[in-house]
Amino acid sequence: MKRYLVQTMGCQMNVHDSRRIEEVLSADGWLPTDEPALAQLIVFNTCSVREKAEHKLMSALGTVRGFKEERRDVVIAVAGCVAQQEGERLLQKARFVDVVIGPDNISELPALIAHAQGGGAPVARTVFDVHAPAFLEATPAPSKLEVTAFVTVMKGCDERCTYCVVPYTRGPERYRSSDAIIHEIRGMVEGGVREVTLLGQTVNSWHEPNADEPADEAPPWSERLARTSQFAALLRRIAVEVPELGRLRYTSPHPRHLTDELIEAHADLDVLARHVHLPVQSGSNRLLKRMLRRYTRELYLERIARLRDAVPGLTLSTDLIVGFPGETDEDFAQTLELVREAGFVAAFAFKYSPRPNTPSLKLEDDVPEAVKAARLQAVFDVVAAQQRPHLESLVGTTQRVLVEGISRTDPKRSTGRTARNEIVHVDGVDLEGAFLDVVIERANEHSLMGRRLSEAPVERPRFPHRLKVVG
Ligand code: SAH
Ligand code: SF4
Ligand code: F3S
Repeated sequence: MKRYLVQTMGCQMNVHDSRRIEEVLSADGWLPTDEPALAQLIVFNTCSVREKAEHKLMSALGTVRGFKEERRDVVIAVAGCVAQQEGERLLQKARFVDVVIGPDNISELPALIAHAQGGGAPVARTVFDVHAPAFLEATPAPSKLEVTAFVTVMKGCDERCTYCVVPYTRGPERYRSSDAIIHEIRGMVEGGVREVTLLGQTVNSWHEPNADEPADEAPPWSERLARTSQFAALLRRIAVEVPELGRLRYTSPHPRHLTDELIEAHADLDVLARHVHLPVQSGSNRLLKRMLRRYTRELYLERIARLRDAVPGLTLSTDLIVGFPGETDEDFAQTLELVREAGFVAAFAFKYSPRPNTPSLKLEDDVPEAVKAARLQAVFDVVAAQQRPHLESLVGTTQRVLVEGISRTDPKRSTGRTARNEIVHVDGVDLEGAFLDVVIERANEHSLMGRRLSEAPVERPRFPHRLKVVG
């Protein structure tokens, strides 16, 4: 019996890729295990976006080194963004690694494992599929289907935000055809999936792949705010052609592709969630320029104001970097001001971390660690001060909740989300995949507690089955 274990680090893109790795392995006769000692194959799917993420791989590798020394038959593979970034170098740094495999080469994994098992030399395979982009179709086993699923619509990134390693680890932008996207969503919905999140690094730059256009050609650099949105057309097509889909989200959009057409789609489509995660990174125009984000704070604020006009009550969350080279107190004050003005109810904030190959490596990492830490805390404090009253304002209202699974802290309760992405706990089990109307009774620090308005779910899944327990 061949058993594998995949350990995932990093973003949703990697979570999604890990699923495809599992599917490729299962088609090759492998079975999963949670026990490293029982595995003949251990795959680390890695992230490189900040130094800390890369360290995680090194310490994880440390834990399996002993194994490899004791059991020569176990195959160690490193996938994901560190694999792509380091390639052959990783084989030098960690001599017990057998296979290094980039995000575009997942389908080659079984052959590389067979090579390693046959006593072949360690091998690195990190080639972008720019000329024949291959999107591995999701083929989850029924037992692996969950209430909410990711669907990739594009790969790579053509932006060059000066701090970011992703364009180098994920390659140029390539798009998946709308036919393939719709086909995958339809299959998932027929299998019981209720909510789909479209996935891409700049997901709203999606357009129909054009056979005449070389896949590796970046859009003109002068084009700042996009004017048309094929992405909006894609959302409309999904809404019309998969009417059974309960809820549609996407992540992460780039502000310069938040076109009027996309805003109109939000106004028109009930299936679209009333929440957008729109990374801003900084509130200072000087820093936005240094980061090459290609928008100003004014443009960002104008875009979200329009979005909110179109969808009253829409919630926003964001990503922020503190301590980017040259960030002054004044720059940071503008970031905090923007966080307040935008009224974010959640934010992922990170201390700037210099990354290999990125343009900002040339800038001195001059903000002291203690200042970075204080600024990070200040961001979290402001966001918490906004999240709390927002959640409290919902007490007494009725919210429609899509139940995702059993609560992690209380096995008699279920947990789900509203269209605005608030987390709601409710009494009762066996409700996965159901839309419930819930009266909100209490606000916790980051979530809500509620009571079902009626015993019967508003809508039952068409294909109910047991789903994974979630937190
Ligand atoms: N494609 C997405 C995000 C990719 S990385 C987007 O453009 O929104 C996720 C987040 O990590 C980024 O939004 C940014 O806030 C953060 N990040 C990226 N590079 C970083 C670095 N070098 N140091 C600190 N944070 C970084
Ligand atoms: Fe990185 Fe910028 Fe691309 Fe996002 S848009 S992945 S932050 S380069
Ligand atoms: Fe994601 Fe990390 Fe790669 S954030 S794209 S896994 S560098």
